[in-house]
Amino acid sequence: MRGTQRIILIADKVKDLIRLPADLKIPVFKEDDVLESAIRLVGQRGKRNLRALFFLPLDEVARVNSFFKDFKTTEVAHVSVAFSGEMELPRKSPLLTSILDLRSSAISELESRFLIDRAFREMEQQSSIVSQQERSKITLIDTYHDLESLIDIGKSLTLEKDSDRLLRQILYLSKKITGADAGSLYITEKDGQGSKRLRFKYSHTFSKELSYEEFTLPFDDSSIAGHVALGGQVLNIADVYDLDEDAPVSFNRSFDKSHNYRTKSMLVVPMRNHLDQVIGVIQLINCKETGEKYTGNEAYEILLKEPQDFEQGVVPFDSRYENLMQAVASQAAIALENNRMILQIERQFDEFVKASVSAIESQDPATSGHSFRVAAMCVNTARIINLQKSGPLAEVQFSETQIKELEMAALLHDFGKVYIDPAIFLKGEKLYPHDFVHLKLRLNYLYRSMELCYANELLALKSQPEITVRGEIDSLQKEGQSKLEALREIMLLVAELNKPSILNEDRNTLIQGILLQAPDLECEDLEGRHIPLLKSEEIENFRIARGTLNREERRIIESHVEHTYAFVSKIPWPVEYQQIPEIARKHHEKLDGSGYPDKIQGRDEIPIQSRIMTIADIYDALAAADRPYKKAMELKRVFAILREEAALNKLDGELLELFISEKAYTAGKVESRQRS
Ligand SMILES: [Fe+2]
Ligand SMILES: [Fe+2]
Repeated sequence: MRGTQRIILIADKVKDLIRLPADLKIPVFKEDDVLESAIRLVGQRGKRNLRALFFLPLDEVARVNSFFKDFKTTEVAHVSVAFSGEMELPRKSPLLTSILDLRSSAISELESRFLIDRAFREMEQQSSIVSQQERSKITLIDTYHDLESLIDIGKSLTLEKDSDRLLRQILYLSKKITGADAGSLYITEKDGQGSKRLRFKYSHTFSKELSYEEFTLPFDDSSIAGHVALGGQVLNIADVYDLDEDAPVSFNRSFDKSHNYRTKSMLVVPMRNHLDQVIGVIQLINCKETGEKYTGNEAYEILLKEPQDFEQGVVPFDSRYENLMQAVASQAAIALENNRMILQIERQFDEFVKASVSAIESQDPATSGHSFRVAAMCVNTARIINLQKSGPLAEVQFSETQIKELEMAALLHDFGKVYIDPAIFLKGEKLYPHDFVHLKLRLNYLYRSMELCYANELLALKSQPEITVRGEIDSLQKEGQSKLEALREIMLLVAELNKPSILNEDRNTLIQGILLQAPDLECEDLEGRHIPLLKSEEIENFRIARGTLNREERRIIESHVEHTYAFVSKIPWPVEYQQIPEIARKHHEKLDGSGYPDKIQGRDEIPIQSRIMTIADIYDALAAADRPYKKAMELKRVFAILREEAALNKLDGELLELFISEKAYTAGKVESRQRS
């Protein structure tokens, strides 16, 4: 080994027993206490690369061994030729390992030459074996750390769902495991013409706070990152300032100049996805790993401030990091692709749900936008609840996933209406338009029939001598006019009865009044069929006290909840969204059990998400200006109705007060903030 010093130490007690070669070049020290001179020499040499051969009495070997036992064999090694004299050495003595030869007689010049050669050769061999073992051990430890880092990186990258945080984490972990001071991350994208380019997404330097802005680089040799993206090969540069003129890439020093930084070593790794496409590039700068003192924390513990810090503190990236970083980059690429795919699926599903809801709502212009407004109000309310620090709702906290689940449930809550005849939703009066037209035609028919009937009778009378029928004609004319007048009034009355508005008189009384006149006004058609003034289904509809829907139509409309549930349950929701069918099913339940479809009673039986949705749903039904039979209600009136419902234990009063006081019904989004 270069720089190794060899010495021979001979104890005074045995010096007369040894004849050394005359041409010996190795320094020889003859002392009374050979150990003392060895200690002195080691001190002078600074414990480095000393090989010592001792000639000494056997009883001094143990003492010498105990001094040398703390040194690494690669640095300070020794062997002894011991003279046993009268002393006996046990067969398994530990001393034997350091004794090259045990003598009881004098050593000739020839023997000493042989022993010296053998001694130093064995020490070198021993040292070489040990240093080989040490190197293997270090490699083993490095490999172990690398594997541990990879496993940790794999775990943490898989857990991170936020794309921006994921990019930062990829870069942070890459710098940490390689001891890099700085790093940048680029993501592949396509420009307007479909050509690939790199977008500089994120950069961080441990030694300095450096500002940066997003920019793009082409996939070509005009930049180091672009070159790696294009070629797909790892690039490990010891010093970017030393790049040859004919190197495929060059380094632009302008950033260093403007930021008073010195970019030196660089490791640039492409990130490849499962299709082997380069989806990004990780660029690591200035390795600060110092070998012996490597702790894994160099990246952020050692700071580069002054020019000499860069000169002395920065080393090339070890070649083992090329493979390690390729593995890290693969994991990062998988994590990024997973996130991208999850986001894409979520976005596609989101868009699909919204498009479906729009399609359904478009068949009922009256409720157009209702589901979107209810969803927005539900999300607002959940976020407002998250901000509560005191009060009954302070303990309730919705995660972002739960908020998304609520939004989806709200968007789909009325999806079941797709199974219901749209005419029911569009029914703006007590009778459907075509039924009302039929009624009017029938009344017209009766009117004309009656008119004709009286005209014929009058004609017949008029053919007789006037003197005999004058009185009869008068009374027939009066009777006819009175009945026709009654029919005209009935025609006006049914038009009123058909309207959903509140009438001055009781509907049943009015209907009864019409029916009392039926025997006088009804007749038969040409085929002898009875023509009634009002049919039973018309009577039923005219009797509807509020709104326009009769009992059967109301039942059909209420069935939308079960249709929604049946439909939404068929969607294979991910685990975190599995409550969606249940939340949507219960949006018409009331706390007092008067709701539908299951007449569930009790606050704890109805999920808070459904209770929120019920409030938003009723609010929108009242406040929206787009119902067929009513105009938008004033907010004051809407709140009064909602509070009345809460007072009757139908709606959740605490939620309602928060909904009103925090204006959860307004369009503005509540920021996603966590409680501090
Ligand atoms: Fe509904
Ligand atoms: Fe609704």
